[in-house]
Amino acid sequence: MFNNVFVGVLLVVTLVVTCEARVLLEDTTNYSLPSADEFVQRKGTEFVLNNSEFFFNGFNAYWMMHVGVDPTQRHKVSNVFREASSIGLTVCRTWAFSDGGDRALQISPGLYDELVFQALDFVVAEARKYQVKLILSLVNNYNDFGGRPQYVEWAKNASVAVQNDDDFYTNPIIKDYYKNHVKKVLTRMNTITNITYKDDPTIFAWELINEPRCKVDYSGITVNEWVEEMAPYVKSIDNNHLLEVGMEGFYGDSIPDRNQYNPEFGMSKKKEGYNISARDSFMNAVYSRIYSLAIDGGTFSGALVWQLMDEGMDSYFDGYEIVLSQNNSTTTVLNQQSYKMIQLDTIHH
Ligand SMILES: *[C@@H]1O[C@H](CO)[C@@H](O)[C@H](O)[C@H]1NC(C)=O
Ligand SMILES: *[C@@H]1O[C@H](CO)[C@@H](O)[C@H](O)[C@H]1NC(C)=O
Ligand SMILES: *[C@@H]1O[C@H](CO)[C@@H](O)[C@H](O)[C@H]1NC(C)=O
Ligand SMILES: *[C@@H]1O[C@H](CO)[C@@H](O)[C@H](O)[C@H]1NC(C)=O
Ligand SMILES: *[C@@H]1O[C@H](CO)[C@@H](O)[C@H](O)[C@H]1NC(C)=O
Ligand SMILES: *[C@@H]1O[C@H](CO)[C@@H](O)[C@H](O)[C@H]1NC(C)=O
Ligand SMILES: *[C@@H]1O[C@H](CO)[C@@H](O)[C@H](O)[C@H]1NC(C)=O
Repeated sequence: MFNNVFVGVLLVVTLVVTCEARVLLEDTTNYSLPSADEFVQRKGTEFVLNNSEFFFNGFNAYWMMHVGVDPTQRHKVSNVFREASSIGLTVCRTWAFSDGGDRALQISPGLYDELVFQALDFVVAEARKYQVKLILSLVNNYNDFGGRPQYVEWAKNASVAVQNDDDFYTNPIIKDYYKNHVKKVLTRMNTITNITYKDDPTIFAWELINEPRCKVDYSGITVNEWVEEMAPYVKSIDNNHLLEVGMEGFYGDSIPDRNQYNPEFGMSKKKEGYNISARDSFMNAVYSRIYSLAIDGGTFSGALVWQLMDEGMDSYFDGYEIVLSQNNSTTTVLNQQSYKMIQLDTIHH
């Protein structure tokens, strides 16, 4: 008891002195979380919510639907949303795909597993409950959870003449498979909230594809043409939501000496010299850069760290995992950034 009081006092002092350090404490002012009933919009290069510029701190958690399929594991989805929103994380990016294989959402072209869809419904409903906005990605570039390779396999199985995974971008039958998936997800009626996905302001944006790559055409033209076809298709079904490609925005192979500057945001335990304080100070450095680029009308409105997980998910750990309930120092780093970004919302209001 005494210890708790003591720690509490210390933290309040820190808060007063620095005006920005805010640590996980149940009795401090609540964050003002995004409105559950408003769509995020774009004005010029700004995000806008409820008529004011929207700044955020957020996270990735690709695993949510996959884990949520199992009713005995579903609480992990809720735990992460609850803990994240309690430290002011207001945007989450996750997968709205799982093509073929284990716990497939799309078992084969156009054939869906209703129970898996209900797990996605749960993810969206929980996000809404905790006032976290979602970025939902519609297909993977890689073969994790099926991805482009699975679409191409499906075409092969249907006797379509295809040569390699890059046919995903150009083959008309595969493009139709993808469009069908887009339509299926966007027009899905959530069985928990009864809100159709395309009408649900919980969704911040759609993402066309996670990290597109095209080996047969490094110029970018093939991917670009695919985007030029798919983006209007998404918008033809859903004009409420923002849309992004899923491209990381990195330097390509045509300028190899710039490769070293490609941002990765997160730090893996597998990296040489890794320790928790190295990770925390790396993240602090990235966050303070993002904050300074946001505050003066620069290019950032927020960032999504890779990635949050819950306790008991060791089999999913990829080295980047952050478990808020167990990694206290990192939780503090995230919390401070959330606080700073949310203050910007208020300042600009
Ligand atoms: C914060 O939110 C909780 C739950 O909604 C509420 O019980 C509490 O009174 C709020 N605290 C403040 C300071 O507004
Ligand atoms: C929207 O902003 C106004 C002030 O500009 C505020 O009074 C209102 O509570 C906000 N609505 C929501 C849902 O946050
Ligand atoms: C592969 O093709 C066969 C024959 O048309 C079909 O019955 C089967 O469902 C297909 N499998 C997948 C995974 O698409
Ligand atoms: C959704 O609709 C069903 C069937 O009409 C109804 O029983 C349920 O209460 C509704 N749920 C919500 C959250 O509105
Ligand atoms: C953590 O890593 C940093 C950078 O690699 C190093 O300077 C520091 O001494 C390490 N700290 C501990 C506690 O190992
Ligand atoms: C962070 O949490 C993970 C997952 O529980 C745990 O394995 C790791 O030891 C924690 N690291 C620190 C420094 O607390
Ligand atoms: C992390 O913080 C929680 C609550 O703030 C506390 O109960 C727990 O003991 C802390 N864990 C470590 C390893 O410091």
